[in-house]
Amino acid sequence: MDKKIIYSAVQPSGNLTIGNYLGAIRNWVRMQDEYECFYAIANMHAITVKQDPAELRRRTLELAALYLACGLDAEKCALYVQSHVPQHAELCWVLNSVAYVGEMSRMTQFKDKSQKHAENINMGLMDYPVLMAADILLYQAQCVPVGADQKQHVEIARDLAIRFNNRYGETFAVPEPLILKGGAKICSLQEPTKKMSKSDENPNASIFLTDDRDTVIRKFKRAVTDSGSEISASDEKPGIANLLNIYCAFKGCALADAEHEFEGRGYGEFKLAVGETVADALAPVQREKERIMSDKTYLNDVLKSGADRAFRAARRTLSKVYRKIGFYQGE
Ligand code: TYM
Repeated sequence: MDKKIIYSAVQPSGNLTIGNYLGAIRNWVRMQDEYECFYAIANMHAITVKQDPAELRRRTLELAALYLACGLDAEKCALYVQSHVPQHAELCWVLNSVAYVGEMSRMTQFKDKSQKHAENINMGLMDYPVLMAADILLYQAQCVPVGADQKQHVEIARDLAIRFNNRYGETFAVPEPLILKGGAKICSLQEPTKKMSKSDENPNASIFLTDDRDTVIRKFKRAVTDSGSEISASDEKPGIANLLNIYCAFKGCALADAEHEFEGRGYGEFKLAVGETVADALAPVQREKERIMSDKTYLNDVLKSGADRAFRAARRTLSKVYRKIGFYQGE
């Protein structure tokens, strides 16, 4: 039987946070043995908000190194840069004629980003979910492992696949989001009802995968907690619940066990334990990332062979799409 196809991506739009790791990359690593996986660096999505060109280039390579350092194996999955495979933009254009302005303008992320970047509400920002649908559908992916914030976008990809298939005949696999409990929504350490984000202006709100031990511990010590003193994952305690969630995700334990472990202990002691756990988990990833970054030839080879593999799969789908919609492709 053919292997199930998995697709996902991260934007090189800032330093990766533990939210990106727990919500997405860690799950990708777990899937790479069993499935056929395509994991991209979504630089075309990143330019929908202003990026410094030199930074974007540097972050692209850093993200590739982090993918590998987190445990992705370039032999098992295709790791590549989105702009290296031109079919993403080509399929996006076709899907633009299937997608409705109304549905795109209702997307939560579009509304949020339009507010945040009011001076730069560009067409790309609105088209973002269509490009994301193109990413996923190009590879006939059945499953898309993401954090909870991307669920709406994967649902749009599903809708576009179904709409296209109904209009032109069976063409695309209809993808499903895969959102695993636990890491699906890691929240800001400063505003624990908001998701932790790479682009948060307050550096204390996010733990970056590249933060050193002292920084990690300091940020957890400063994390906003709730009134009272009990360490429990209740809805009234979003700050403590978030820290417990992070602790359990890194320790691999159940919330109830962690609550039990910290019974009768103070917030200070608890926050230090979370900080140490996270710092311990990040240290080997950081060492590996540095090692890989020092070997640019290897990194470029990985990205080149990933793009070759992705290109072959993408070309097959795009040619089928062009046939279905009536684009003349020669005799
Ligand atoms: P991006 O770069 O914002 O985030 C990458 C992945 O990390 C997840 N994530 C989180 N998970 C849990 N808690 C958090 N605080 C947190 N913050 C981020 C995201 O859900 C995502 O899975 N549009 C995508 C990139 C993309 C993509 C795709 C994803 C482009 N094409 C095709 C899937 C399929 C994005 O901006 O992710």
